[in-house]
Amino acid sequence: MNESIKKEFILANDVTIPCIGYGTWQTPDGETAVRSVEAAIDSGYRHIDAAAAYENEESVGEGIAKSGIERSELFITSKLWNSERGYQKAKAAFDKTLSDLRLDYLDLYLIHWPASPSQFPDWEEINLETWRAMTELYKEGKVRAIGVSNFTPRHLEALVKTEVVPMVNQIEYHPGCMQEETVSYCRKYGIQIEAWSPLGTGRVLSHPLLLELGKKYGKSAAQICIRWCLQNQVLPLPKSTTPSRIIENIDIFDFEISGSDRELIDCIGDFGKSGLEPDSIDF
Ligand code: A2P
Repeated sequence: MNESIKKEFILANDVTIPCIGYGTWQTPDGETAVRSVEAAIDSGYRHIDAAAAYENEESVGEGIAKSGIERSELFITSKLWNSERGYQKAKAAFDKTLSDLRLDYLDLYLIHWPASPSQFPDWEEINLETWRAMTELYKEGKVRAIGVSNFTPRHLEALVKTEVVPMVNQIEYHPGCMQEETVSYCRKYGIQIEAWSPLGTGRVLSHPLLLELGKKYGKSAAQICIRWCLQNQVLPLPKSTTPSRIIENIDIFDFEISGSDRELIDCIGDFGKSGLEPDSIDF
C-alpha cells in the first residue's frame, strides 16, 4: 500500500471517516441495491453514502444487514431531502431514514440541498431552522457528525456562525469540476469536502488526458479520477452496480499520481459537469 494516503480522514469533531465511500445514487431499488451494497462491503468499502431521495434506503439497509459486518465498523451517511426542510419535518425525516436503513444511529447526516434565494425569500431562515434540527440530533447522539451538501459559501455563511459548524460539505467534484471557491471556503472552516459523481457520472471517463494517465499508471480512467480526488484531500463517493467496477474503484491505494500529472488534471477546465446549480435547481 502507498503510505502517502491515509485510509481515513478525521472530521473537525475528531470522528474518523473512511477515505472512500460507496455511492448509492441512481442505484435501482430492490435486489440490485441489496446486492450492490453487499458486494461493496464484501469488497472492502466500510463507508456507504445513502439518501432518502435515492428512494432505495430500505434496500441499502437490507444490504448492510446482510453483510454481517459489525455496525461499529461501518460508516453510514444519509441526507435530508428538500421537501423535509424545517425543524419539525427534519426530525421526522431523520427517524424515517433511520428506520428504513434499519439502524439506531447514523454516522453522518447531511442537508441534501440548500434552500436558495431563487426559490424562497426566507431561504436563510429555512436553512438555519433545518440546521437547528440537525444540531439537536447531533447533540442527542443520534448521529455522530452533521453537515451539508451542495452548499456554496453564500449558503454556508449563516451556518458557520452557529454553535456547531458543519463537518462535511458533499459537492459535485471530479476532473473538470473543482469548485475552488467552495473548497477553499470549507477548508478555512475545517469542513471536509466529499465528492459526489467523482467520475462525472461516467461523463469524464473518455477524456483523453485521463485515458493517457491511465495507461501511464497502469490504471483505468476511473481509478485516476478517484485517486486524484484523494490526493486533493477530497473524499470520493464512486457509484457502481457492476461487481468488477465496485472492486476496481477501491483498488486505488497502490499508486500515486505525480504532482505534475495532478496539475494537468487540475487544468482540464470545465468538463462533464452535471449542470445542477444550488441556486437554480427546481426541485
Ligand atoms: P455502473 O453502475 O453501470 O457500473 P459517479 O460515481 O461519478 O456518479 O459515476 C457512476 C457512473 O459511472 C455509473 O454509470 C457507473 O456505471 C459508472 N462507473 C462506475 N465505476 C466505473 C468504472 N470503474 N469504469 C467505468 N464506468 C464506471
